Formats: sequence, structure tokens, C-alpha cells
Amino acid sequence: MTEMLLLNYEALPDAKPAPVHGKTLDVIHLPMPDLHAGGTLMTAFSHRASSRTFAAEPLSNTVLGALLWAADGVNRPESGGRTAPSAHAFNEIDIYVALASGVYRYEAQAHRLVLRHAIDARNLTGYQDFVGTAPLDLVYVVDTARLTTMSPQQRDIFSAVATGAIAQNVALYCASTGLANVIRGWINHRPLSDALSLTKAELPILAQTVGMPAPQKM
Ligand SMILES: Cc1cc2nc3c(=O)[nH]c(=O)nc-3n(C[C@H](O)[C@H](O)[C@H](O)COP(=O)(O)O)c2cc1C
Repeated sequence: MTEMLLLNYEALPDAKPAPVHGKTLDVIHLPMPDLHAGGTLMTAFSHRASSRTFAAEPLSNTVLGALLWAADGVNRPESGGRTAPSAHAFNEIDIYVALASGVYRYEAQAHRLVLRHAIDARNLTGYQDFVGTAPLDLVYVVDTARLTTMSPQQRDIFSAVATGAIAQNVALYCASTGLANVIRGWINHRPLSDALSLTKAELPILAQTVGMPAPQKM
């Protein structure tokens, strides 16, 4: 993003996690997606764009299930193959899901969300004003423990490429269903790692905000 765009946003000083809203569950079992929903791929490409205004309305579990499956779900159960590629199929990128009701981690094999931290950490996923009010902030976390056979340089490049593929899957899912989204590299790694209860081997590398578009002002 350009310096001008970044300057449009005030850094949020000393952000603290907010108390959770809604029901915090230990596990959220997600519905499998309707594979016939959404527009065509070419129509999705024509709508793909970054948006930075979101309605606060929460997303249903049906939408969450479809979005996360599109992001990096299992699309070939016989082999465990995923919707996004990863070098050697290490699947080193975990998707953390910051909702008003808590921070969850997406488990692709079981297609479910598992509670990681019972806080509303949305406002800690970045500095921009919409991050704490949009209903969903995804955080892409590389688990470097799965990449010990790679050199550090290869690890950084390959995990960034894998994250880009997942984030683009989400962007195209959003474009095909009328959701707004923006990929965000402007994150504060340390507070975010604390908020997500990450280990030393886990590094947050990118975030993505998703929600219904804000209603047009008259
Ligand atoms: C790796 C990456 C990091 C980005 N970081 C941010 C960010 O921190 N905040 C933001 O508002 N947009 C961010 N963007 C979105 C870009 O600003 C946006 O894609 C660009 O302005 C082009 O606009 P478009 O996506 O609508 O075509 C990022 C995009 C990418 C690919």
C-alpha cells in the first residue's frame, strides 16, 4: 500500500484486548461449503478489490465455513490436499480467526475452529481504524517448526508465497459472494503474538479483514 494510504490511519495507541462479545465456545464445528454457490471465477476476478469500510454485523458459521474452506480447506480428502498450495505440502501456515467471541485457530482436517484465547483481539491485529470493528480478522501465522529442513531464506520466501495463495483464495471468495476484504501487512508482531497466544516458533506474517461492506452513506 502507498505511504499516502497508510497516513490516512492513526496508529491505535496502546491497544488492549477487549472483553469478548457473544458466546465463546471451545470448538466451533463449521458447515461444509455449498460448492455451487458464488459467481463464476471470471466474475470474481472482475470484482476483486481491497475495501477498508465494513459493517459490524457478524458473519454466520455458514459463511465462516465456506470462507475458511476456500482459504485453505481440505478439497481432496483422500490425500488431505488443500485449496491452497504449499511447498512439500508442509502446510506451515495456520489461520487464526479473531472474532468478537474469541481467537480461534482453523483446523482444516476437522473443518472446525478451536479456541486459542478467550479475548476479543480484533483491535490488536493491526493499526487501522476498522480492524477492531469489522467482524473478522484473519491472521496468517507461519509455524517455523514445520520448516526445519529449509534454510531461513527459503523458509521466509516459501511461507510468504503460501500465505499469498491463501489470502488470494479468501479475496476471490469475498469477490464472488459480495464480502469486503483487505489484506494487511501493517501488523505489530509482538502484541499480536501475545494476543494469539503464539509460541516462539510461530510468527504472524499477514492479516486480512473480512466483513459485509459498510452501508453506503446517503
Ligand atoms: C502484502 C500486502 C500487504 C498489504 N498491506 C496493507 C495494509 O497493511 N493495509 C491496507 O489497508 N492495505 C494493505 N494492502 C492492500 C494494498 O494496499 C492494495 O492491494 C493496493 O492498494 C491495491 O488496491 P486493490 O487491492 O484494491 O487493487 C496490502 C496488500 C498486500 C498484497
